Amino acid sequence: MPMRIIRQKAKLQAQTRDWRRSGETIGVVLTMGALHDGHLSLVRAALARADRVIVTVFVNPRQFNNPEDLENYPRTEESDARTLAPLKIDTLYVPAPEEIYPSGFSTTVSVSGVSDGLCGGDRPGHFDGVATVVTKLLLQTDADYTFFGDKDYQQLQVVRRVANDLDLKTEIVACPTVREEDGLAMSSRNLRLGSGARATAPVLGRVLESAANVIGRGGNVSQALETAHQALLVAGFDKVDYFEVRSDPGLLAIETADQPARLFAAAWLNGVRLIDNLPIPVLTQTTNSAQLCEPA
Ligand code: PAF
Repeated sequence: MPMRIIRQKAKLQAQTRDWRRSGETIGVVLTMGALHDGHLSLVRAALARADRVIVTVFVNPRQFNNPEDLENYPRTEESDARTLAPLKIDTLYVPAPEEIYPSGFSTTVSVSGVSDGLCGGDRPGHFDGVATVVTKLLLQTDADYTFFGDKDYQQLQVVRRVANDLDLKTEIVACPTVREEDGLAMSSRNLRLGSGARATAPVLGRVLESAANVIGRGGNVSQALETAHQALLVAGFDKVDYFEVRSDPGLLAIETADQPARLFAAAWLNGVRLIDNLPIPVLTQTTNSAQLCEPA
C-alpha cells in the first residue's frame, strides 16, 4: 500500500482502529518536518519495531518562544513526502492546526525538574509546548512506541517524564544522534546556516568532545567549561547560551562529574541556534584542560 497522507484526526483514528482490530502495533515518529537523515534513522527504527508506522509533521506554534523563529522555520511538506515515500511507512499525518488546538483549547502539560535550565531556561514555555503537543499526538496516533533522538536530550527526558507521570501506554525509544561526516549533529536548523557558518558549525561538536574527555579524565569542570566557551567564541560563534554538565538522566546541575553525567551546549552562529550534547566518558588519565579545544 502506498503511504497515505492524512490531515484529519477522525480519519487517522479510523485507520488506527482498523490496525488494532487486526492486532497490529503502531510506531510513531513525531517531527516538525524539514526531514533529514536524523529523522530517517528514527523512521527506520520504527519500521524495525512496529507493524505500522506513522510519521507526523506539525510545526507546533506553542513551542516557539520567538515569533521570528516560528516564521522562519522551514516548511517543506512536498519534499518531506517524497523523502518518506521509499521507506514505505503507512501514514504521514499532517494535522491542520485546529486538529491539535481546537477553539477553546486551554490545557497545558507542564513538566518540572528536567525542563529547568538548559533550553528550558533560554526558551521560556518551550517545553510546555513540546510536552502538550507530544501528549496530544501520542494519544491521537494511539502509539505503542515513539522514537526520539539523543540530539534533543533534554526533550527526550521531558517526554519520558510525561509518559511516565501520565501513564501513557507509549514506550519512548531513544536513538543515537546522527551526524554529518564532519561531526555536525543533524538538525533542520542547519539549512539556515550560510556556507561560511556551515563550515564553522562542526566546531561545536569538536569542542564538546574535547571538553567531555577532559572532564572524563578528572579535569577541573569549571575550567574545562570556560575554555570550551572561549573556544566557541574564538571560532566565530556569536554567543553561547549555555555550556553545562548535568547528571544523567535527572539533568540536575552538578559541579563534579562523579556520577553518570552529560555535557550540554547551545550556541548561536550566524543567527542560528545550534545545540548538541555528549555523555561524559569514564576515562582514567588526567589531562591538562589548557590543551583542549583548538578551533578549526
Ligand atoms: O523535536 C521536534 O521536532 C519537536 O519538538 C516535536 C517532538 C516534533 C514536538 O513538536
